[in-house]
Amino acid sequence: MAVMKKTLIINGVERMFICDPENDTLADVLRRLGLTGTKVGCRAGQCGICSVLLDGEVTRSCLKKIRAVPYYARVETIEGLGTAQSLHPLQLAWMVQGAVQCGFCTPGFIMSAKGLLDQNQDPTREEVRAWFRKNRNACRCTGYKQIVDAVMDAAKVLRGEKTMADLAFRMPADGRIYGSSIPRPAALGKVMGACDYGDDLAQKTPDVLHLAVVLPGCSHARIKGLDTSEAEKAPGVFKVITARDIRGNNRLALPTAHPRAKADGLEQPIISDQKVVRFGDVLALVAAETPAQARAAAALVQPDLEPLPEYPTALEASAPDALEIHPGVPNLFVTLPVLKGEEARKVLDESAHTVSGSFYSTRQPHLVLEPDTAQAYVDAEGVLTIHCKALALQVTIDAISDGIGFPPDKMRMILNPTGASFGYTMSPETPALVAVAALATGRPVSLTLSYPEHQHFTGKRAASFSNARLGCDAEGKLTGVEYELVYDKGCYTEYGAALAEMGTRFFTLPYYLPNVTGLARSVLSNHAHSTAYRGYGSPQGYTASEQLMDMLAEKSGIDPFEFRYKNVIRPGLTSQNGHGFAVYPMIEILDRMRPRYQALKERAARESTDRKKRGVGIVCGMFNVTGYSGDHAEVALELGPDGAVTHFNTWEDQGQGGDVGTLVLTHEALRPLGIRPDQIKMVMNDTALCPPTGMAASSRSHLMAGLATLDAARKLMDAMRKPDGAFRTHAEMTAENIPTKYVGISDTAAATTPLDLNTGQGDPSIEYTFGAFLAEVEVDLDTGQTRVVAMHTVGDVGVIGNKAVVDGQAYGGMMHTIGFALSENYFDVKKHATLAGAGFPYIDMIPDGDDFTVEYVETPRPAGPHGSSGCAELFQTSGHVAVINAIYHAVGVRVHDLPATPEKVLALLKAKAEGRLAPPPPYFFGEDFYDTIEEIKTNPVSWE
Ligand code: FES
Ligand code: FES
Repeated sequence: MAVMKKTLIINGVERMFICDPENDTLADVLRRLGLTGTKVGCRAGQCGICSVLLDGEVTRSCLKKIRAVPYYARVETIEGLGTAQSLHPLQLAWMVQGAVQCGFCTPGFIMSAKGLLDQNQDPTREEVRAWFRKNRNACRCTGYKQIVDAVMDAAKVLRGEKTMADLAFRMPADGRIYGSSIPRPAALGKVMGACDYGDDLAQKTPDVLHLAVVLPGCSHARIKGLDTSEAEKAPGVFKVITARDIRGNNRLALPTAHPRAKADGLEQPIISDQKVVRFGDVLALVAAETPAQARAAAALVQPDLEPLPEYPTALEASAPDALEIHPGVPNLFVTLPVLKGEEARKVLDESAHTVSGSFYSTRQPHLVLEPDTAQAYVDAEGVLTIHCKALALQVTIDAISDGIGFPPDKMRMILNPTGASFGYTMSPETPALVAVAALATGRPVSLTLSYPEHQHFTGKRAASFSNARLGCDAEGKLTGVEYELVYDKGCYTEYGAALAEMGTRFFTLPYYLPNVTGLARSVLSNHAHSTAYRGYGSPQGYTASEQLMDMLAEKSGIDPFEFRYKNVIRPGLTSQNGHGFAVYPMIEILDRMRPRYQALKERAARESTDRKKRGVGIVCGMFNVTGYSGDHAEVALELGPDGAVTHFNTWEDQGQGGDVGTLVLTHEALRPLGIRPDQIKMVMNDTALCPPTGMAASSRSHLMAGLATLDAARKLMDAMRKPDGAFRTHAEMTAENIPTKYVGISDTAAATTPLDLNTGQGDPSIEYTFGAFLAEVEVDLDTGQTRVVAMHTVGDVGVIGNKAVVDGQAYGGMMHTIGFALSENYFDVKKHATLAGAGFPYIDMIPDGDDFTVEYVETPRPAGPHGSSGCAELFQTSGHVAVINAIYHAVGVRVHDLPATPEKVLALLKAKAEGRLAPPPPYFFGEDFYDTIEEIKTNPVSWE
């Protein structure tokens, strides 16, 4: 390699360095110089994460070859903008507006915004949005609105209309931060570019080996051999790691653990050894001295594969002659029933009105901006330490220990600052890969996937197929539903029963159905395996049930909003699982939403033109808070000599707000001590230091960690309390031999009931969240293009602990639902391998300002800490169907299979114009629906 010297003026300072003019980009050089505030995400010019100012111009540094950067060019990066003591207005505005969630996009966005404000200190919101669109600045967390708010605020400071003090967060007069919008503690490091994410850590790890994956290039094959000889001889290669190098059983342990599951959850290898079952399976890892050397050598590995028929969806995999993807495990491996009241077939046959339909939802990709990354090493005490993005730190240890062949009590999991996951890191596969590599090489290792590799390797939301029939009486009261909801699990069974269980809970909720006959099923296919994703398991059901609600409203001659209002559960009525709710605010939510619905309908009628039609869609949604009966969490509080209290937990924060949640819950629980927020220290997400708080899933963290915090605070304050009611100091406690550290526990076992295996009746969750979503769209009759003009939600997540954080989940969730409805997909392994190809929603797809709002009904929750529950997943349950229903309202065509791409809408419009519009035929999975119901009724199962 020929290298050369170059000099640039970086953040005002002359910097000389040596680089590879042929291969280095400006981003590579900056990061090698230690300026890792400049992140790299897509490495393809599609996300703007790497934006810097080059001679004053916003420049995506991942695309800019270093040879094309002039000598002595001026480069401005995030590190040069402000200091912790003297932030730039943009940095402070980002913090206080809640524009920082995971923060991975933040440095690039702020530098892009600086480029704008250097030219124009008084931009309009539209100009800000157009600027970010032009510069491809993408954010997956926020929904963009808070980012535009931050730029507008910073511009006011720069114009002298506001001071930095005006902008800063002010402590409430009563000193209470619970319910305020106090900025996240982690935001400061993120706006300064000082926060090191996984790949940044790898840049700074001594003796590190870089890993590259070998993928098979097909989706179903038998592995006959693997020739690694050329790769082993390649420059810089330390070792090529295959399944033979793994000490353990090479299987991830993700138990399906359900009597109705015909799989044990041990199908997934860490490195594939017998079969390829998806495009993203890993056949080998190459460990080399540089990332480029590892990738070059990985391309030299030669697999010998015997092709097998590929089943890209659950439909093909259900064909009678389909091979078992995992021999011995039926492709249709889980069927769970929900049976309430009379058999729905009979009730529906006698109902005044019925509608039926078949619906498909896509394998939605999470589209995080940070491709998956993890590091591992064995420390001086022989502890295998794994840094990663896991949402379930302790669970990951249990899931990989046997597979890698290392004792769980000698493993330590650490959560890196994380460019978000929205659920996919519930799957433990990346930690397992770096673990086996660290053990096989004896050196620290780091793996950062390219964006295409990330797309192929990581799990996705399960695609779904459903057939359903819904009925009502002559007054529009629902009478019953029958449905079959099939989750396309992809290639591995991971938590397949838990997923199907969601299908037996949220199809048609929050409406009262006296009679329900339903099946939820999980089926394997040769595609990316499904994993957790915000809203887990519910959007698939709502894709069908909230469209059927509109269809039935139309058939009954009732407005869709009023039809829903008539049918939401009233006090004393039960869900399809036969339970009631301690709190049930749907009437208040819909009352709050009604004026907006009317206003949007009037505007849609007014603004429709001959060629651009507007329409409005409304849906309701719900989600559980805690997912299974017997949920358990622990945290610890310790009083320090300085009077500060340290909180220890594993609330896996990936930008959703675990840090500030921990802060406000602790501050509120310790109010009697009168401590200030800065006297609360947090030690989080390191299994060597923190008790098990459980996974960050099922919208459970705030509630479960909050209850455990209350318990720990009670124990600590009881120990500190003197007979006269005053509190002991740390010195007094130690003098009296009173412990200063207490573990708090919360557990839902006594208050919840698992679902009955034969009827689906029961209530495994301690709390719920509720909401309604309203969308206005404009459909271009000439192109089929749908634009979401407005989206609003009214939600009830209990008493709010931090408003900015809940807003972030709400706006971010709605943004994901718009993408899910209109563009996002992971099916075509070429087209959908990139962010743009997979339909990433950029800022121009998302409404803004008064057309994008969230309102709250804050009904205190009896079971939650300080009246709170959880929040994240509500906002990504059913909103996508509001968009689909709005398209129907606008142009009279119903999109049964997501996403509603322009081509699809245009084809439907054409078919309608030609009088040949027909709904899709029912999906068939090899078994008659009522035969299966009968089989379940006559062959009950039990946990024994
Ligand atoms: Fe450079 Fe995405 S645009 S990393
Ligand atoms: Fe923008 Fe996470 S905060 S991608």
